[in-house]
Amino acid sequence: PTALAGRHFLKELDFTAEEFRGLVELAAELKAAKKAGTETRYLRGKNIALIFEKTSTRTRCAFEVAAADQGASTTYLDPAGSQIGHKESVKDTARVLGRMFDGIEYRGDSQQKVEELAAFAGVPVYNGLTDDWHPTQMLADVLTMTEHSTKPLHEITFAYLGDARFNMGNSYLVTGALLGMDVRIVAPKSYWPAQEIIDRARELARGSGARITLTETLEEGVRGADFVVTDVWVSMGEPKEVWDERITALAPYAVTMDVLRATGNPDVKFMHCLPAFHDLGTGVGRQIFDSHGLTSLEVTDEVFESGHSVVFDEAENRLHTIKAVLVATLA
Ligand code: CP
Ligand code: NVA
Repeated sequence: PTALAGRHFLKELDFTAEEFRGLVELAAELKAAKKAGTETRYLRGKNIALIFEKTSTRTRCAFEVAAADQGASTTYLDPAGSQIGHKESVKDTARVLGRMFDGIEYRGDSQQKVEELAAFAGVPVYNGLTDDWHPTQMLADVLTMTEHSTKPLHEITFAYLGDARFNMGNSYLVTGALLGMDVRIVAPKSYWPAQEIIDRARELARGSGARITLTETLEEGVRGADFVVTDVWVSMGEPKEVWDERITALAPYAVTMDVLRATGNPDVKFMHCLPAFHDLGTGVGRQIFDSHGLTSLEVTDEVFESGHSVVFDEAENRLHTIKAVLVATLA
């Protein structure tokens, strides 16, 4: 498991399809070993820093449990608890942490920051989510797709509905393109990924055989899909003023049972990186729902709680796939 020794994990575009698939396969092996109680500890004595400038449940816990399972230790630096970005530059932080740690995870807003950390740390740096990319999530999502489909990856079709200009939409587009999948981005045109990302995806598709469709038409976008996927309509760091415009634009693309039926595939699966938008009794969600006459946002409870939904397998797979990244780069 040293195929990627010393490498960073910053964005999908840095990897070949073979390397990416290799990580997913390693994750499946590590998952099976953990379940069988036969896991080998490849990372004894390693120390990993976890910098979170944005909040997290899955990503943080996946890194911490993966490291612990493998015999490594972690140090969590929360959004307020370090000097990074307030009193100390990213470049200096990188050079300090690089002297103490064997690997560094970073979650924050700009991709440029994680790239700068990587340039100066001297140890592998992992992107735990930026505004542009969510690459560890893609490993988990691809593993989940392989577990819930009998088809080889290049025969799988998935449709991403919702805001596709942010981390999840971008990552799905290039990952599907890299792996030769049938990728559908289904959203109003103003919510499609940036043209340069679409161009990169089309370029990858020429080599991989991927089929790429960007469409505003729901029926065309979801027809024949094996997986329907979505994400929150308003991402971390966005101002609350965007809610109104977002709901107006994206409400027709909410994942409902009708959308799943429109795939024509009775076995279609639903995925969501989570967290999903729910009214948590804070009143905030309720206000948003009521003022727009909606009962749910990006996905209905009916779909979320149905047998189509594999969101908790997907969440669990964050652990096994992040462990694969750590093992492949540090063991
Ligand atoms: N999917 C995901 O990255 O979840 P967290 O924000 O909880 O880490
Ligand atoms: N697009 C979401 C993903 C959360 C995992 C966000 O950035 O908040």
